[in-house]
Amino acid sequence: MPSDCAQARADLPVGLVGCGRWGRHIVRDLVALGCHVTVVARSEASRQRAAEAGAVALVDRLSALPAVAGVVVATPTSTHAAVVQALLSREVPLFVEKPLTCDEESAAAIVAAAGERVFVMHKWWYHPGVQELARIAASGELGAVQGLRMQHLSWGQPHDDVDVLWILAPHGLSIAQAVLRELPALRGAVAEVNPAGAVTHCYAWFGAQPYLSLEVSANSPERRRWFALSCAQGVAVLADGYASSVTVHRPTGDGLDMASEDRPLSAELPLLRELAWFVDHLRGGPPPPTDAAAGLAVVRAVAAIRRAAGVAP
Ligand SMILES: NC(=O)c1ccc[n+]([C@@H]2O[C@H](COP(=O)([O-])OP(=O)(O)OC[C@H]3O[C@@H](n4cnc5c(N)ncnc54)[C@H](OP(=O)(O)O)[C@@H]3O)[C@@H](O)[C@H]2O)c1
Repeated sequence: MPSDCAQARADLPVGLVGCGRWGRHIVRDLVALGCHVTVVARSEASRQRAAEAGAVALVDRLSALPAVAGVVVATPTSTHAAVVQALLSREVPLFVEKPLTCDEESAAAIVAAAGERVFVMHKWWYHPGVQELARIAASGELGAVQGLRMQHLSWGQPHDDVDVLWILAPHGLSIAQAVLRELPALRGAVAEVNPAGAVTHCYAWFGAQPYLSLEVSANSPERRRWFALSCAQGVAVLADGYASSVTVHRPTGDGLDMASEDRPLSAELPLLRELAWFVDHLRGGPPPPTDAAAGLAVVRAVAAIRRAAGVAP
């Protein structure tokens, strides 16, 4: 996984569309990776965030973006499809924040038009703890994988264009792609919905052996990011996005006790890791693994959850 900032050269022109709460972190990391960042920022607030984070140039509309080696898209979810479509004629690699889009048709159209050069910023796929869970699953050191249990719980969510299912479920689904290699078929889902029809809490379950259980919430007093890989001979747990280790638990004695072992993790943030991969690709390296086809599978899974739970698309 390419992530060596020390070797970065400050000579790569990269565009960023959207510089809100999250986009400013993207500017910071692209600058750290040696990019000359031009930001499409329409409002004064976005312009200010971009300048403070280190952008070298600002333009007020997409068509004013100069020639760049690649473009990162960090606009609200509901705008991803239109922004990506508007960028496709540039014929450069695009890295789009998750989810790829919020409807199956537009995501499939992007894959058909330019699936080889559109990638999705599924940050959790690149998380050192998720990569450790994937390594444990693939190695078989804890025996056959039985299932992956995931909780992504918050109180409220800051986006008003889509609900928590479009915002948080893509995280867990991309973790499942990393750890189980593919998404098992959906078996069922239930959801809580507010008076406006927006999902506020959802349970979904997939597959059988291995299974996947996913719980996301904007209605949880406890903030929780918790991921457990259950195998025949033990359970490996990533207990938070900022956890310093994955802990492997094995039963001992009569099974009522356990032996726990911490596996230390790199402290490198997943946003930097995924951007490092994209920047390395723009410099001639391999493409990021979270490609548009994987992004489409996530969009299809969220759409299937919504249908199973009986909520609006
Ligand atoms: N992976 C993660 O952990 C993570 C975390 C947070 C967010 N995200 C993702 O990042 C994306 C942005 O989230 P955010 O929290 O930064 O949103 P935000 O604070 O609402 O910022 C959105 C930015 O996009 C701009 N924008 C909106 N519509 C646009 C359009 N049609 N064309 C060009 N620019 C447009 C806004 O500019 P104006 O000021 O001019 O309106 C603003 O700069 C979302 O897809 C979200 O899911 C991912």
